[in-house]
Amino acid sequence: MKNFIKLLEAYLEYWKLLGVDRLPAYPELKNFLALDPLVPETLEELEKKIKACRKCPLHRTRTQAVPGEGPCPCQIMIVGEAPGREEDLEGRPFVGQAGRLLEKMLASIGLSREKVYITNVVKCRPPGNRTPDEEEMKACRPYLARQIRLVKPRFILALGAVASHSLLLSREPLSKLRGRIHQLEDIQVVSSYHPAYLLRNPRAKRAAWEDLQLFKSLWASP
Ligand code: URA
Repeated sequence: MKNFIKLLEAYLEYWKLLGVDRLPAYPELKNFLALDPLVPETLEELEKKIKACRKCPLHRTRTQAVPGEGPCPCQIMIVGEAPGREEDLEGRPFVGQAGRLLEKMLASIGLSREKVYITNVVKCRPPGNRTPDEEEMKACRPYLARQIRLVKPRFILALGAVASHSLLLSREPLSKLRGRIHQLEDIQVVSSYHPAYLLRNPRAKRAAWEDLQLFKSLWASP
């Protein structure tokens, strides 16, 4: 019995880490979307909540939160890591150097940023653009889960390890996750390199291009 209680505590701790403060019914636990707080609200209401959020220390250093932007509903969603300096100043996702590369990547598969919903796992800029820590991701993940429920994408492009690990509840290296189609309920997810990584490592552009072709094939196929 003692062992069972210990196991149960560890299990609850695991879900707390992922941002779930109540224990959902078993079938909800299967995937990232289980983190949806199930609060009925519109995307506009959710965005207001994100802008006023003080759930983690990043609210103290941000200029503003960056909820995301794009049509709703929208078939295609792009998920990055967290806002950088320019995003923090403008309040819009992917408007800096990485954003310009993302726009080129989208154009190469016939998309423009106006046609897709763009957001990040973490909605406030981590100081110095460091990788968000566990507490910050925990606080923010339910927002992304709710956004996905509201925007109802059929295809998600996860850019970088933070987005891929979060959405796929996986710790596999990005090199193993990319180049494949993952399923998140009825949503098809393709992982690829983050544009900021590609700016630093141009040799990975070839693999990213292959990922984009794979992503495009999802809706271009008959
Ligand atoms: N990098 C991200 O992951 N997201 C942004 O919005 C900008 C840069």
